[in-house]
Amino acid sequence: MQIRNIKIDKKSFQLSWQNNTTTEFPFIWLRDNDIEELHPKTRERIFDLTSVSLDIQPENFTFTSEKLVINWPNKKEVANYQAAWLFEHQPGNFRQDKAKREKFFWTSKTLPKISKFNASKCTESKDALYKALINLKENGLIIVEGLDDSLEAGEEFGQLIGCKRSTNFGVMFEVISKPDPINLAYTSMALPLHTDLPNQSMVPSYQFLHCYRNSVSGGESVFADGFKICLDLKKDDPEKFEILTTTSIPWRFHDRHCDIRSHRPIINLNPDGSFNMLVFNAHLADVPDIRSDLLVEFYAAYHDLMQRIRDPKYALHHMLESGQMVIFDNHRLLHSRTSFDPATGDRHLRGYYIENNEIDSRIRMLSKQH
Ligand code: OGA
Ligand code: ZN
Repeated sequence: MQIRNIKIDKKSFQLSWQNNTTTEFPFIWLRDNDIEELHPKTRERIFDLTSVSLDIQPENFTFTSEKLVINWPNKKEVANYQAAWLFEHQPGNFRQDKAKREKFFWTSKTLPKISKFNASKCTESKDALYKALINLKENGLIIVEGLDDSLEAGEEFGQLIGCKRSTNFGVMFEVISKPDPINLAYTSMALPLHTDLPNQSMVPSYQFLHCYRNSVSGGESVFADGFKICLDLKKDDPEKFEILTTTSIPWRFHDRHCDIRSHRPIINLNPDGSFNMLVFNAHLADVPDIRSDLLVEFYAAYHDLMQRIRDPKYALHHMLESGQMVIFDNHRLLHSRTSFDPATGDRHLRGYYIENNEIDSRIRMLSKQH
């Protein structure tokens, strides 16, 4: 976009663009964002904001349709601001970000099947991996299939994306029925719809569950879009929704080695009211410490959400097969499994977490190579 005209007052420039819009650029912002004061190699800002006064003004300036050139006090070289850069970085305009995707909130009717992506194609083609990750961001879950028949195949796939998160369960956790379990997932019991580890101060964001073996009877996976359920609750009963977004409750996991606790609401919103994270796990909800005059209302809201979560209209069923790996957003999706009979075969899943900033970073890097 080209610059058409520039006006100046005591605090800022008003740039008129070729498309007849105008943007205000305060002087202090321009001084702080002089790209010649970035480190030449790392491109990190090395300018010290406190070295200038907040009411700094240019000594003089010139402009063409392609750039604005400013002479700042106490600076030898002029500062060059390209029109295209200024247009892209206009204050108040959110910059384009390939990792920001509109979420598709689903029920089992609107998303009857989980999208599947071939593991070798994602390994060989950046385009295929990009498409898989975009689908993951939009729907909140995907399946990668055709993994090699090896214990490490799911773990290795994660290296295409980014580094894994470590928790008290390790980097990789083995979901198998064990004689001395520290966690209900390590039994053959049914797990109700839940999100993992709300007790962590940073709740793991993307979960990867590689199905190495699943030949038992039972052990079917069920997923539900937690944000869709919360959206429906908000529509039907805004007061209950409000209680669940504002009432902070304690969460806890403890065993012989650790006692990990957090305190947060079940529905966590961003400052603009959009969904940030749903945490829902009755096994890890600690004894509620809410004031007794608020408890009954809290229970009414919590009970309502719990019933909605079990409504079959939200449940997306999938029987994981060996060589498949389900990847899902643990800040949004609820997951569960039916009970299984360990005497009828093998069931061995291998899980790990990768944080959302790693996924977003990979999407941005892949989109540059697109
Ligand atoms: C878990 C879990 C599901 C399964 O390990 O957190 O929910 O299918 N496992 O075993
Ligand atoms: Zn789980």
